[in-house]
Amino acid sequence: NLLDVAKDADIDGVEGACGGTLACSTCHCIFQEEDFERLGLEDIDEDELDMLDLAFGLTDTSRLVCAIE
Ligand code: FES
Repeated sequence: NLLDVAKDADIDGVEGACGGTLACSTCHCIFQEEDFERLGLEDIDEDELDMLDLAFGLTDTSRLVCAIE
């Protein structure tokens, strides 16, 4: 998933403390609006939304990247 990609790329601030089980919000990433639309990231399931609500600095183009395949 995208968490592994972000970690492999050493992207700053992406921790993934829960190991990608949607139990933290440390894999929160904010996408550019055009990327968010281009990648079709608008569909977010309930489990992710519940956890995403706890993320610091939540935006309209926020996702928890461990939930993105
Ligand atoms: Fe914990 Fe994504 S790594 S919610």
